[in-house]
Amino acid sequence: MTAVKRPDELRSHRWFGESDMRGFGHHSRTAQMGYSREDYLGKPVIAIVNTWSDINACHSHFRQRADEVKRGVLQAGGFPLEMPALALAEVFQKPTTMLYRNLLAMETEELLRSYPVDGCVLMGGCDKTTPALLMGALSMNLPAIFMPAGPMLSGRFRDQPLGSGSDVWKYWAEKRAGKISEEQWLGFEQGIARSPGHCMTMGTASTMTSAAEAMGFTLPGAASIPAADSRHARMAAETGRRIVEMVWQDLKPRDFVTANSIDNAITTVLSLGGSTNAVVHMVALARRGGIPLTIDRFDELARRTPLVANIRPAGKFLMEDFFYAGGLRALLRDIGDLLSLDAMTVNGHTLGDNIATAEVYDREVILARNRALVTKDSLAVLRGNLAPNGAVIKPAAAEADLLQHTGRAIVFADYNDMAARIDDPALPVTRDSVIVLQNGGPLGAPGMPEWGQLPIPKKLLEQGVRDMVRISDARMSGTSYGACVLHVAPESFVGGPLALVQDGDLIELDVANRRLELKVSDDELARRRAAWQKPPPRYERGFGALYQMHVTQADQGCDFDFLEGIAPTPEPEIH
Ligand code: FES
Repeated sequence: MTAVKRPDELRSHRWFGESDMRGFGHHSRTAQMGYSREDYLGKPVIAIVNTWSDINACHSHFRQRADEVKRGVLQAGGFPLEMPALALAEVFQKPTTMLYRNLLAMETEELLRSYPVDGCVLMGGCDKTTPALLMGALSMNLPAIFMPAGPMLSGRFRDQPLGSGSDVWKYWAEKRAGKISEEQWLGFEQGIARSPGHCMTMGTASTMTSAAEAMGFTLPGAASIPAADSRHARMAAETGRRIVEMVWQDLKPRDFVTANSIDNAITTVLSLGGSTNAVVHMVALARRGGIPLTIDRFDELARRTPLVANIRPAGKFLMEDFFYAGGLRALLRDIGDLLSLDAMTVNGHTLGDNIATAEVYDREVILARNRALVTKDSLAVLRGNLAPNGAVIKPAAAEADLLQHTGRAIVFADYNDMAARIDDPALPVTRDSVIVLQNGGPLGAPGMPEWGQLPIPKKLLEQGVRDMVRISDARMSGTSYGACVLHVAPESFVGGPLALVQDGDLIELDVANRRLELKVSDDELARRRAAWQKPPPRYERGFGALYQMHVTQADQGCDFDFLEGIAPTPEPEIH
């Protein structure tokens, strides 16, 4: 690709190209920062949108990485400006980072719009940061490249590898069942997170950074490099060099994010056994690019996509093993026949070019197609009278006999109700029961937290039960597993049918036929609906009030309605 822009056509020229009174302010204040005119005039101004924060452990290397990106920008003749943005630290932010995903997307878009920026490097990785940054960049549509945080190193306790999240759920259940000691539990705590970087199972972070790479938003191979590896630092510098070229070439997100590249990303998620959270994020993200994606596309593509990444929670290994096995490029080359290889990417080459020379080095980690963990349907979209607008399940992560199951409901009105009663020895629950959680959705929780892997009652754990059918309008961590039906839409808080379920109702889950049915007569449901009372809104003021006014339901991506689509937004006037 050759340059299509002249220096006086740079967007930043509107700030720096004039010698009037406003231009004086821009020049004098840039001088105040220690820069001469030669440092920036006629050069692409690159915003390094950095989601570093002391509270985000997954991004603890980002101050150093920002310097490495800057080095690359300077080498390529650009002018880097680091701009901090909301960190969205998954473990610490309550009630859930999902409440704030759209806030970071707005911040990203408006940072880029309101300042003299020609292109940007987006630094993210911890769960919601990736979709948020990409959504903002797609809406602003300036040249943009994503620098993924990279997974942390594999966890370790004695001779056992430990995976983020997945092994927490697993060993917490064992602890509740009385099978491991307090001393072992503390040993896990000290060994599970050993380095900078995001969760190193196939959780939402690895899922979304891999989706970003498959969509064309990163340099080839970037998403698989462990954060602590020196190759990650070199990738950061290369990302800085590349964004300067992208500005001159005027290569923008909507030039390469197309219906085909979105399909590539979804196919990638399915082949990885990726997080169900990707369903919500990809719908929101695609719509920011003007692509009318629906959740049903996941189901369509799942019917032909094998799950070939042997990574927890669906498989055995961790992201560090995946990197040594050849990483995402190698996996994508294996499933190349399911991808649109002519899709463009940020480096100016097609996806097909970028993966052409990739090799698999470990066939236990990246499985051959004939040894796939499941040959298809690693994720399924369900519908029925309990989820008229859809729900999702990850069949590959559930005990097989539960995928066709009818059982009686045990209903919890909200999380606190569940926490108070789930371990009550008198709870009339068996492995055949269907546990239902209400008010875990976008408005009800609020923020649709990752509550969807509802706990197995302690008395059943003690009997050896490790999976049951569980249903909610919440999300589930990508590191979780089990026969959990998630994202039920519309949610119970707005009067979706989930709000009408009562203890003892029969519920039928039929994954093969994609059905989720509440076996209660229409007359009875009408009677319950008439008696249902709309709960009061969760917020009277503040960001929460804005959120509840505009957030869409799970099947629509949980974006704010006024942020969807590609209607033009004016450039700021400069006076
Ligand atoms: Fe940051 Fe899991 S806590 S990715």
